[in-house]
Amino acid sequence: MAARYLFLGVAAARCATAGSAACSADAPLSCHNTTSYDTCCLNAPGGHLLLTQFWDTNPATGPSDSWTVHGLWPDNCDGTYESNCDASRAYTNITQILQAGAPSTLQYMQTYWKDYHGNDESFWEHEWSKHGTCISTLEPSCYTNYQATQEAVDFFNRAVSLFKTLPSYSWLSAAGIVPSSTTTYTLSAIQSALTAQFGYAVTVNCNSNKELDELWYHYNVQGSVQSGTFQPTTPVGSGSTCPSTGIKYLPKPGSVTSASTTLTPATTLTTATSTPTGGALSGKGYLNVVTSGSQKGCIIGAGTWYTTGTCATFTATPSGSGFTLTSSKGKCAISSSNALTCSSSVTAATVFTYDGTNLNYSGSSSFYATSVPTGSTQATVYTASNTVSLKITWQAI
Ligand SMILES: *[C@@H]1O[C@H](CO)[C@@H](O)[C@H](O)[C@H]1NC(C)=O
Ligand SMILES: *[C@@H]1O[C@H](CO)[C@@H](O)[C@H](O)[C@H]1NC(C)=O
Ligand SMILES: *[C@@H]1O[C@H](CO)[C@@H](O)[C@H](O)[C@H]1NC(C)=O
Repeated sequence: MAARYLFLGVAAARCATAGSAACSADAPLSCHNTTSYDTCCLNAPGGHLLLTQFWDTNPATGPSDSWTVHGLWPDNCDGTYESNCDASRAYTNITQILQAGAPSTLQYMQTYWKDYHGNDESFWEHEWSKHGTCISTLEPSCYTNYQATQEAVDFFNRAVSLFKTLPSYSWLSAAGIVPSSTTTYTLSAIQSALTAQFGYAVTVNCNSNKELDELWYHYNVQGSVQSGTFQPTTPVGSGSTCPSTGIKYLPKPGSVTSASTTLTPATTLTTATSTPTGGALSGKGYLNVVTSGSQKGCIIGAGTWYTTGTCATFTATPSGSGFTLTSSKGKCAISSSNALTCSSSVTAATVFTYDGTNLNYSGSSSFYATSVPTGSTQATVYTASNTVSLKITWQAI
């Protein structure tokens, strides 16, 4: 049996060298091989793969109703792991690599694989060089006609495709576990909700404030990371870092679902706390920015758009057929250059309306920016057409 595996391993290696060709169907499951096998078709020593996810709330990253990708990590089947395995492949152009090799993966990552400092590229570089370069089946020598960086494309494609099979937000919410500033949850409730869907225990991590912030899904792989089969398995390594009770699952600031403290998903903030008819809002809230269908950051005190910081609190005061907005910087107005500005120098506040979902100015809910801000950059929000279209939603607080 041992000899047969070895023979097939050699044969499979030749086959696998055809770039994306599959490894032999007889390839052993990683962490379960009883003899040596070609490491282009058996992940070793890092045979235990983790797909890890973040729930970032301060600052928030990603859509308010989705977890985000942290990484795809090889672990040595026992809780230890290798890292930074090949400095010569620590690429510093992941965005360009994916633009050329997997544009739709890149586009997905720009929403779902987010750095909380706003520097996605350097976060992706870190994940690739620290963990990706240690995945044996992704070694350049496993490819025939290897093209520079193609293994990094395979790494990000696989991480994204796995992430898409792990909708943690929906899985938790199906069990009544939804973000809330008031409700807390038990570790066993979170674990059973996830195990019911994934089939195996999931590592559930919290920060030092007992806030749920990370999930680790564990796999063994039959064949290569590129094209093999990922089989869910039980965790190895350190256990969950959450306390057994009192776990907070905080809303992402700016999340429309966040103010709903009821467990009924149908009760949305807008229907619960505002009266859209008449277009007027009143009270305090956040102005969230939605672009390309997902929430990205919010409006800060000066009236500019920021994707990585804390949302400013605005006060809406009914006025005429709508309402005015004020931040800590002052009243908000649309300036003569069509820019949203909140400042102590604004004397006449602009009257906005609300269409039940979006902030409206002059009968339109369309706002614009020259680009999506990243990192510490702020973008001016315009009412006149520009490169990036956005909507502004209201979240009462
Ligand atoms: C499994 O295969 C790897 C890679 O060939 C090898 O290093 C390891 O020793 C094998 N494990 C066993 C128990 O034979
Ligand atoms: C990315 O950088 C690597 C060298 O680190 C280079 O070989 C490759 O051509 C670059 N790819 C793109 C698309 O710029
Ligand atoms: C808000 O704007 C949308 C179109 O952008 C329009 O259909 C709607 O009637 C507007 N509502 C109000 C209250 O201004």
